Amino acid sequence: MEERKLRFLCRIFIFMKQKFDQSTAPLLEGLMKYAARIRAREMIQFHMPGHRGGKGIAPLFRQFGRDLFSLDLTELREINYGNDPDFLLKAAERLAAEAFGAQTSFFLVNGASIGIAASFLGLNAPGREVIISRDCHLSVINGLILSGMKPRFISPRWIEGLPALPAPEVLEEAILESPGVAGVFLTNPGYSGLYGPVAQMAGVVRKHNLPLLIDEAHGGHLRFFGVPEAATVGADLWVWGFHKMLGSLTQTAMLHMGNGVSGEPGRLDPQRIAESLQILGTTSPSYLLLASLDSARRELFFHGERMFSTAARLGAKVRRELRDIPGLRVFPAGELPAGYGCDPTKVILSFRPLGLSSWQAEEVLCHGFRIQPEYADGDYLYFFISYAQEEEEVDALIQACRRVAVSRCGEKDCFSGWQDRDGEFTPPPWHNGTLELSPREAFQAPAAHISLEEAGDKIAASVVAAYPPGIPLWVPGERINPDLVEWGRALQKSGGYLRGVDTGTIKIVAGS
Ligand SMILES: Cc1ncc(COP(=O)(O)O)c(C=O)c1O
Repeated sequence: MEERKLRFLCRIFIFMKQKFDQSTAPLLEGLMKYAARIRAREMIQFHMPGHRGGKGIAPLFRQFGRDLFSLDLTELREINYGNDPDFLLKAAERLAAEAFGAQTSFFLVNGASIGIAASFLGLNAPGREVIISRDCHLSVINGLILSGMKPRFISPRWIEGLPALPAPEVLEEAILESPGVAGVFLTNPGYSGLYGPVAQMAGVVRKHNLPLLIDEAHGGHLRFFGVPEAATVGADLWVWGFHKMLGSLTQTAMLHMGNGVSGEPGRLDPQRIAESLQILGTTSPSYLLLASLDSARRELFFHGERMFSTAARLGAKVRRELRDIPGLRVFPAGELPAGYGCDPTKVILSFRPLGLSSWQAEEVLCHGFRIQPEYADGDYLYFFISYAQEEEEVDALIQACRRVAVSRCGEKDCFSGWQDRDGEFTPPPWHNGTLELSPREAFQAPAAHISLEEAGDKIAASVVAAYPPGIPLWVPGERINPDLVEWGRALQKSGGYLRGVDTGTIKIVAGS
């Protein structure tokens, strides 16, 4: 049977089996009901927020819609039921868990970052090691600092200059070399949309009976393409940056928990995760943001396949049209090693054959053609194609890239001062540096500030990361490899940005 039809039938089956009514959005509906009563002056507000249902929002901002501001509320007895201030939130979270194949889901308002940091607290293993693929996000390091755990880094697999999930053998070797390790934390897919053999990785983790945690911040929609993902491989915990591409408001995210690779629920305790989120989070979560998660879940449940097949179709169109244009290089998503693939909604493009870095190409596209990509990393420009993208927008992108390629930028003199890149891409020379102190110990140690040039062989006290996407070059507690300093300086020289050296200095452990 055709794969699409099969998936459609599966969804009907899931629909019939569901315990909860997915057509409801309890949090959103509860909020709207209360806001309507405020607007009708049936309720008089003596509670936060102070703008009183939007009336007090500054006029410049208010022009964007009083109705929207009237939904800006937080937990209130009148919105919820009885004495439980989270009643509707819990109902909405239960629906999300059911819709997305989790046992438990938490709605988050501080991005995927808070979910990731909370997962390390949830592991509850201070002083112990956790295996982490090195291409992790900054929030992982924050989680290490907070939890007192130590990273046992493994190298990502580099594919055409982009980091992807490490090979399963690399993980297996690290587990064998690290007795007492508390768990495995992977990032899949990466910011670029590259994903790897996560089912095989889960198999390795299962064999060693460890908890598997996955940063799936960019991967919530891969389920609509039948790509193996955290829920289907049975991860213990995974985090979605829901706001990134799934249609909720900025900052919103979800943390999901499953039965775990070993099928033994409870190795990561949902109660402990809830407490960790509470420690790290606000006590006044924006219901406006949370309700956007509730409503996006409902939309995805019923229309996710259609929404994302549109995005994938448009992505495929851009890649097809640009593939044969001389001077442009479309990332060869169809030629990746077995087990690896690329999110079909991502377009990854290099202008290097034209002698342009992606920072330069981004500038031309922004200023010459009003096109803003998601990000540029020097080599590649990344365009994230959304389910809400219009065909004409995609055509404009194709047209702009074609014009840049044909005329080398579309306008005369654009190239003055631009240089060809010297040499091929080299991954950061991490060599999985020596950890002298745990990230927490280094963070708490007396610190000194020195220039980047002097940093080689010192012990780092803070993170320095190549941005975007924010992958740490070194983490607190690591002895800084002088090769990495050189790599970072070369990145800066070629126009890249190093987060953590904003004032020209970096933080190291004093006297190291
Ligand atoms: C792989 C990855 N994980 C986590 C995050 C953090 O997400 P958020 O910005 O929602 O906190 C990001 C942010 O870009 C990311 O790229």
